[in-house]
Amino acid sequence: MTCLYQIPELLQAQELRDIARRLADAPWQDGRTSAGGQAAQVKNNEQLPRDCDAARAIRDCVMRALDRSTAFFSMALPRRVFPPHVNRYGGQRNHYGAHVDNAIRLSGEHGQALRTDLSATVFLNDPDAYDGGALLIGTGLAQRSIKLPAGHMVLYSGNSVHQVTPVTRGQRLAVFFWIESMVRDDAQRDLLHDLDMSILSLRSRHGDDATSVALTGTYHNLLRMWAAP
Ligand code: NI
Repeated sequence: MTCLYQIPELLQAQELRDIARRLADAPWQDGRTSAGGQAAQVKNNEQLPRDCDAARAIRDCVMRALDRSTAFFSMALPRRVFPPHVNRYGGQRNHYGAHVDNAIRLSGEHGQALRTDLSATVFLNDPDAYDGGALLIGTGLAQRSIKLPAGHMVLYSGNSVHQVTPVTRGQRLAVFFWIESMVRDDAQRDLLHDLDMSILSLRSRHGDDATSVALTGTYHNLLRMWAAP
């Protein structure tokens, strides 16, 4: 199965304004430096160098936003999050053809190996600022086209074929990263998220009763069975 989730308003308006200010004079570079062999051949965009001030500040901002998002935790059950990259599509560097992300990425200064169970994109500017630039996920009939408001995030299975269509007007600004989950299997993780949402709904309508406590126990027992923390 392929997971596909959205988290609206991951970033707040003030955070988006701070990010836009930092990006105004940021030192963009060729995006191919972070792509694997197949992906590098179809990648044509720009990224911020990982160690520049703007990249550091935006990375910290997104990591704080993930920490406060209970939706992100429920959907991803994250074990480790790859430090986010910032990218830009526009002008001559305006698309990223169909590709799959490497299964293993080396993360951080010590090059720790991380498995890319989930891929994420956080949109940094609004869809009316550019034409094109849709994120297409999947192949053939199952393909989904994603273009979200600024501050919204999409989270999808790391094994999906995906692409970004050419930007023909304006600039598309986004943050992307990968997540290694405590629950590797998409179907198991998705089932846990469904159960978590149902328990929340039950508790909001009836408060805590014996049934909601029992179901919460079931959730944690499944997590105990499937998680590799
Ligand atoms: Ni990719």
